[in-house]
Amino acid sequence: MSRTPLSGFASRAIHHGYDPAEYQGALTPPMHMASTFAFESAEQGGAIFAGEQPGYFYSRISNPTLDLLEQRIATLENAEAGVATASGMGAISAVMWTLLSAGDEIVTDKTLYGCTFAFFRHGLAKFGVKVTHVDLTDPAALEAAMNDRVKLVYFETPANPNMRLVDIAAISEVAHAHGAQVVVDNTYATPAITRPVELGADVVVHSATKYLGGHGDLVGGLVAGSTETMQRVRLEGLKDMTGAVMSPFTATLVMRGLKTLALRMERHSKTALEVARWLEAQPQVAAVHYPGLESFGRHALARRQMALPGGMIAFDLAGGYDQGIRFMNRLNMIVRAVSLGDAETLVQHPASMTHSTYTAEERAAHGIGEGLLRLSIGLEDAEDIFADLEQALAASDLSIAA
Ligand SMILES: Cc1ncc(COP(=O)(O)O)c(C=O)c1O
Repeated sequence: MSRTPLSGFASRAIHHGYDPAEYQGALTPPMHMASTFAFESAEQGGAIFAGEQPGYFYSRISNPTLDLLEQRIATLENAEAGVATASGMGAISAVMWTLLSAGDEIVTDKTLYGCTFAFFRHGLAKFGVKVTHVDLTDPAALEAAMNDRVKLVYFETPANPNMRLVDIAAISEVAHAHGAQVVVDNTYATPAITRPVELGADVVVHSATKYLGGHGDLVGGLVAGSTETMQRVRLEGLKDMTGAVMSPFTATLVMRGLKTLALRMERHSKTALEVARWLEAQPQVAAVHYPGLESFGRHALARRQMALPGGMIAFDLAGGYDQGIRFMNRLNMIVRAVSLGDAETLVQHPASMTHSTYTAEERAAHGIGEGLLRLSIGLEDAEDIFADLEQALAASDLSIAA
C-alpha cells in the first residue's frame, strides 16, 4: 500500500488496505471468487505451502478478499491481525478449539448468547474442558475462581440479552496475573463503541451478521488479536477443526457494511437512548436495562468503556411474560425477529427464542428473566418507532384495553 495511513476510524473503515490504482482504478475492491490459486511452478507451490513465500493457495486458508476484510477488522479493533469466519459461532468455536485442550478450564460470565452457552456447556464439556460461570461484574469473583488450569476468561459486554457490562480492563488484569488469556465477544458494542484490545483483552470475536454487516443479509464472523494467535486460529481452529470459512461474497458485503458502521452506531445509539428514556417513564414498564440511562446499574462503567450507549435495549413489562407476548403481537412496523444490528427495529423474547438453549432453571441462575424482551433499535425515523411502541404497549395493557 503506497497510500498514507489514515488516523480516523470512519476513514479506515472505508479505505484501509486498498488502493484502487492496484486494481485498474476499481473504487470497490474486486471479489476474488476463487477456491484455488495457480502456482507459477511446482517449486513455487511448495514454497507457498511451506510458508517460505507469501501467496494464496486455497480459500479455506486465505483469499485476497477475506484478507482485506481481516486487515480492516484488525485496524478497527486496534489489533495486529484478523481472521474471517463463516459465522459468529464459527469465530467463537475456531478460537476455542485453537486455544484450549482437554483438561483445561475456562471461566466465563453468567450471561452468554444462547448458542455460545450451549457450545460451552454441551460442546466444550464433551471434549474435556471445564466451564465455570462466575459473576464477572465482580473482579474479586474472578480472582477467587482462578487456578492454573484456567487458560481463558470469556465474556460479552454488553451481554446478550440482559445488557450486563463487564469491566474489560479490570478483568484482564486479574486474568493476566494468573497467566490466562481474555476473549471478548464485542458483537453488541462493535469497535465503533468499545475496543477491548486497547483495554487489555487478547482476542475479540464478532458475529459480523449483526452491526458489522448491518443489513440483515449475511451470516459471518470475525476474530481479531495478535499476529501469532490469529495465525494459530487460522491454521488450527479454522483450517483443520471447523472449516468454517467465510465466502468472498459475504466478505464484500461486510466491507460494504463497515463503511457506514460509525454513522449507523451514532444513529442507533441516539434513537435507542430516546426509546430507553421513554420506556422508563411508562407505567406498564417494570425495568429498562440500557447503558445510557442514569438508572443503569453500571452507568459509570458504561461512560468509561463505551463511546456511545449502543442500539440494544432489554426491558420487562409489569405484566410479565403474558403482557410481553401481547405487546410483541401488536407491533406493526417493528419486526418480530431474532438477530440484531439491522436497519429494521427488531423485537424478540429471549426465553423462548435466542436463549431457549438454556433450561428455565439455567435462565433463572444466569440472570435471564422469563418475561424479558429485547429490542434492537433500527435506523427508521424515531417518530415511527415511538408510534408503534406506544400503540402496542397500550394494546398490551389489559387494564387500559378493558
Ligand atoms: C453476542 C453474540 N455472539 C455470537 C453470536 C453468534 O453469531 P452468528 O449467529 O453469526 O453465528 C450471536 C448471535 O446472535 C450473538 O448475539
